[in-house]
Amino acid sequence: MVSDAEYGMMNEPPGAVLAVKEEWHVAQAQRAAKMLARSIGLSQVAVFSFATSVSELANNLFFHTRGGGTITLRAMRQNGSVGVEVVAEDDGPGIANVDSAMQDGFTTNGGLGGGLPGVERLMDEFEIASQVDAGTRVVARKWEQCR
Ligand SMILES: Nc1ncnc2c1ncn2[C@@H]1O[C@H](COP(=O)(O)OP(=O)(O)OP(=O)(O)O)[C@@H](O)[C@H]1O
Ligand SMILES: [Mg+2]
Repeated sequence: MVSDAEYGMMNEPPGAVLAVKEEWHVAQAQRAAKMLARSIGLSQVAVFSFATSVSELANNLFFHTRGGGTITLRAMRQNGSVGVEVVAEDDGPGIANVDSAMQDGFTTNGGLGGGLPGVERLMDEFEIASQVDAGTRVVARKWEQCR
């Protein structure tokens, strides 16, 4: 875990904004997520959960939109905890029924339908907003107590 002194030396908490349009961008986003979570000293389990979630959200940008979208990664610090946040945003087709999309096994293109419910389980906070023909925004956060 980074100490207060080390954290204070960083001018801004580390983060990244990544465009996801092609398949290799998914792997790039996953790698960036892993690096960010590791750099602030999260446990291996939390690093894995975050990197997997970012990979699933990036995959959805690639598979379910034409124009792709963006993945924004951010490190956070609050009340003795450190955390990482991912925001996945697109202005693609949107999701007609978000409640259905959050069910295990629901897919519109022959996937496993495990992506979104998996992200909700792996992360501590999860929000999704979507509008047909306007796009989708998912925000998810993973926290850990500072030791
Ligand atoms: N960014 C998005 N834009 C439009 N529709 C989306 C988006 N993300 C998810 N969806 C819709 O929600 C459904 C469920 O997504 P989820 O990630 O759970 O499963 P999947 O992508 O179909 O399969 P898997 O992720 O297991 O490969 C998708 O099939 C798709 O219809
Ligand atoms: Mg998916």
